[in-house]
Amino acid sequence: MGRFDGKAVLVTGAASGIGRAVAQAFAAQGARLALADLNPDGLKAVARDLGAVALSHDAMIPGNGAQMVTDAVDNLGGLDALINVAGAYHRAHFADLAASDWDRMLRINLTGVFELCQAALPALTRSKGAIVNTTSTAGIGGIAYAAAYAASKGGVIALTKSLAAELAHLGIRVNAVAPGRVKTAISAGLTPLQGARPELSVHRAKLAGMEEGAAPEDLTGAYLWLAGKDAAYVSGQVIVADGAWSVG
Ligand SMILES: NC(=O)c1ccc[n+]([C@@H]2O[C@H](COP(=O)([O-])OP(=O)(O)OC[C@H]3O[C@@H](n4cnc5c(N)ncnc54)[C@H](O)[C@@H]3O)[C@@H](O)[C@H]2O)c1
Repeated sequence: MGRFDGKAVLVTGAASGIGRAVAQAFAAQGARLALADLNPDGLKAVARDLGAVALSHDAMIPGNGAQMVTDAVDNLGGLDALINVAGAYHRAHFADLAASDWDRMLRINLTGVFELCQAALPALTRSKGAIVNTTSTAGIGGIAYAAAYAASKGGVIALTKSLAAELAHLGIRVNAVAPGRVKTAISAGLTPLQGARPELSVHRAKLAGMEEGAAPEDLTGAYLWLAGKDAAYVSGQVIVADGAWSVG
């Protein structure tokens, strides 16, 4: 028997990386899944493997996420958990950071999450469901050369806590996972930023044996726990999963 047998779960960013691993983990626990992503080919492959509904989603387009949530709720006949994983990363020296890149980071990583949470509210109210967002250690401690990304992820934490406070009386729980370094496509192609000072990088070998970063699968337990009934009294929290990078 699975921990999410029969539960309706929507996972964004499900075509790759953490979102794909999270979708696989929910499927293994019996969830009925709607999966969303910008990348149609990756999404179709994952959805086919898991017998899930595949929904195209571009967080850059206002209103697109709300329509996608409506489609997910219609397809699944309700919604027990909204798992927001989709996100994008951008690096630049702050002096060179273009306003368009600042806006893009805020749009995909923060405004996109706002739209999905708001659109899912009626269905989650009916189910007394849960939201699990994805922030980052960058959203807690900041990160050199990625100010827009860090600001967007800091915003996700404030959004998560504010919704937890406002929606608790409806029985809706809202939490977030803050990964540290995870080996996914988001950082795979990054070349060193010209002129960057290495000592300011958060990805230094402080990870003591974990400097390579986590596999996406290492993160899935946090999402499942926060979405499920074992965390029934947990809301407004950020679970940091960074291999002890941020302590000591
Ligand atoms: N990998 C890390 O080290 C790390 C660390 C902390 C937080 N995170 C966060 O984890 C989440 C997942 O990232 P990942 O590492 O699995 O990377 P990833 O690139 O493998 O996955 C991100 C997914 O988001 C999708 N996406 C990008 N832009 C989109 C848009 N405009 N609309 C809809 N979907 C879009 C991509 O298509 C992709 O499938 C992100 O929110 C990221 O910020 C990652």
